[in-house]
Amino acid sequence: MSLLEVRGLTVTYAGGAAAVRGVDLRLEAGRKLGLAGESGCGKSTLALALLRLLPAGTEVTGEVLLDGEDVLAMKWGRVRAVRWAGASVVFQGAMHSLNPVHRVGDQIAEPILLHRKATPAGARRKTGELLEQVGLPAARAGAFPHELSGGQRQRVMIAMALACDPRLIIADEPTTALDVMIQAQILRLIEQLVTDQDLGLIMISHDLAVLAGTCDRLAVMYAGRVVEEGPAARVYEDARHPYARALSAAFPRIGDAASRFAPRGLAGDPPDPAALPSGCAFHPRCPVALESCPETDPALREAGPERRAACVLAGPPAGEVRAAGEEPEALEEARPSTP
Ligand SMILES: Nc1ncnc2c1ncn2[C@@H]1O[C@H](COP(=O)(O)OP(=O)(O)OP(=O)(O)O)[C@@H](O)[C@H]1O
Ligand code: SF4
Ligand SMILES: [Mg+2]
Repeated sequence: MSLLEVRGLTVTYAGGAAAVRGVDLRLEAGRKLGLAGESGCGKSTLALALLRLLPAGTEVTGEVLLDGEDVLAMKWGRVRAVRWAGASVVFQGAMHSLNPVHRVGDQIAEPILLHRKATPAGARRKTGELLEQVGLPAARAGAFPHELSGGQRQRVMIAMALACDPRLIIADEPTTALDVMIQAQILRLIEQLVTDQDLGLIMISHDLAVLAGTCDRLAVMYAGRVVEEGPAARVYEDARHPYARALSAAFPRIGDAASRFAPRGLAGDPPDPAALPSGCAFHPRCPVALESCPETDPALREAGPERRAACVLAGPPAGEVRAAGEEPEALEEARPSTP
């Protein structure tokens, strides 16, 4: 049984924004899944939906199986138990949301006490251990948030997420506000924790390069859908979906001077989730769109070994088996070329 299996997840906000539209994902313990995509494509909404943290009035359908148990069908008492102990989230920009008037140690101990995982003395001991685990001296438990640097505060947030020994960690842009050196340290720390404790990790970022360097598999979202999914390095180096290709080409490659000086972007804006384009939602921006694309919304289909992409051009044409390595002409044209 997978640690996490998401089936047909859809989220529609009260105002009508279809922020997540039929997402299927799977994650095993000890594995790291990266979730990438432009601002507004639904990454945080998906993360919040996994633990039922969305505002009242939001419509959520589908299944979120955590160790086989559907979070969306749980009673509230069970959901509260699952948050923290089953799965916990390091939120986007969360290091700024530590309570400024409480010592960080008390803030880490709070969920431990709340979930009756330890006595007050046990919680203090555990807090010290957690701080050391994330590379801070146990004595920093007595510090107030303003006495810590941004990187230290983010370490505190990670310690807090680990407080109740969760099986799954969802890290939403855990390093975005940090400088590159601290970013690298935090990423190494998260990787280490996943490996040592056999946790599952979903790491969310708009930065495909960071995800490719950290995760085993990558899912690229566009307009609330996963449009490509596969082994992280393969998706980053050789995406099958035109949007994932454009996203990947927007990041300069180490050792490729041409891409450093001419990173490619993508023209146009992401669509409004309350007024999505017809057919394939990417068609108004797609450099290789076909005449049929405004009418056809392709489902994820096989696009290579352990790979799936939601594009009419990504899989072998119906009834025809393509030889390995051979690509449809139009998709070959869409591949970014090095000038
Ligand atoms: N509480 C809300 N009510 C209504 N619409 C919302 C709400 N929160 C987010 N949205 C909309 O849902 C869509 C997805 O937002 P979300 O925050 O999930 O994007 P994201 O991929 O995490 O973006 P970013 O990279 O900027 O964090 C956006 O169009 C956003 O405006
Ligand atoms: S289905 Fe059509 S519009 Fe969508 S990504 Fe593929 S070619 Fe482009
Ligand atoms: Mg977000």
